[in-house]
Amino acid sequence: MTTTIEPTEDATTVDEAKVEEFVGKVLTDTSGLTTTVLSSIGDRLGLWKDLAASGPTTSAELAARTGTNERYVREWLGGMAAGGYVEYDRAADRFTLPPEHVPVLAQEGGPVFFGGMHQMIRGMVTVYDQLLEVFRAGGGVPQSAYHDDMWDGMERFTAGWFNNHLVQDWIPALPDVETALERGGDVADIGCGRGRGLIKLAEAYPKSRYVGYDVFEPTIEAARSAAEVAGVSDRVRFEHLDASEGIPGTYDVVFTFDVVHDAVDPRGLLRSIRDALNPGGSYVCLDINCSDNLEENFGPLGAAFHGCSVLYCMTTSLANGGEGLGTVGLHPPKLEELATEAGFSSMQIAPLENPFNNLYELKP
Ligand SMILES: C[S@@+](CC[C@H](N)C(=O)[O-])C[C@H]1O[C@@H](n2cnc3c(N)ncnc32)[C@H](O)[C@@H]1O
Repeated sequence: MTTTIEPTEDATTVDEAKVEEFVGKVLTDTSGLTTTVLSSIGDRLGLWKDLAASGPTTSAELAARTGTNERYVREWLGGMAAGGYVEYDRAADRFTLPPEHVPVLAQEGGPVFFGGMHQMIRGMVTVYDQLLEVFRAGGGVPQSAYHDDMWDGMERFTAGWFNNHLVQDWIPALPDVETALERGGDVADIGCGRGRGLIKLAEAYPKSRYVGYDVFEPTIEAARSAAEVAGVSDRVRFEHLDASEGIPGTYDVVFTFDVVHDAVDPRGLLRSIRDALNPGGSYVCLDINCSDNLEENFGPLGAAFHGCSVLYCMTTSLANGGEGLGTVGLHPPKLEELATEAGFSSMQIAPLENPFNNLYELKP
């Protein structure tokens, strides 16, 4: 591909090869966007799960099995083949989802499943017009402005952590916490969302008593229903609460999963958590694995973190006059600063290999 640069005074400073290289990068990113949108359609219409369960398939067969329109499905399959998501056998005119792609696109709740993340991004992008306004005027977009895909997608996305890491890796990495949960302690999950983390803990450690709090009221009903379905309502309850204004009761373990960087008042939140801990208790904070050095966050994950920040994390905090830390705003030095100010005496990072999250244990 070639580009024509209009002559300007400093045209000699433009390196044509670098322009072409950058065009290639932007084309790849742009193609990634359309591929992600199409993949998300496949997720929502059950196309991926059907392909995972069947062998080589024609567009007509896939459309018939999933109750979708063949012309659209044919176009979708073409795009997914062009993007490298499915394989195409020209002689048979059939498409196959390779087994190595199944965990990523079709294994609901699995450790590398992207369907929830894609649904969440679709939910975030629905506030695009409001974002243009706040880019100009300041302020933010409130949680109530987002499409349900934001919350459905978030529940499906973080279910991957709770199904595959919480009980398997995270709790065993924190011996005091594991002991408290096994013995039977009082446990709170602040910013519990739809409650999947707390429900998983209640299933694994049935002697403990659990309460989940969230400031966004619509999540609470969903969390209660999920606890009913899981059969753990005898030991799990969910309440609507802005925890930065205080947390009722005292606890042996308090969790936040991906909450503090989003908070309107992270300092107040940490103070409330500190005050709600029993002596010898633990605060377990899962938050974004990032650096206080901007350049150390560069790369695909850092770009996605900044995207989520603008599209959700930072703007929902700013919407309420909040601190607006943003997705990469709670790096270890920042958490240490906030924790010291809140009266915690120690902070440790669990030795986990997790590019997405850090797991911290803080002691009163
Ligand atoms: C990124 S979501 C994570 C939800 C859940 N922990 C999960 O991992 O699926 C952050 C949640 O924290 C909640 N939250 C933020 N600030 C809060 C506060 N001050 N009190 C209670 N909940 C809060 C938000 O409403 C949102 O549901």
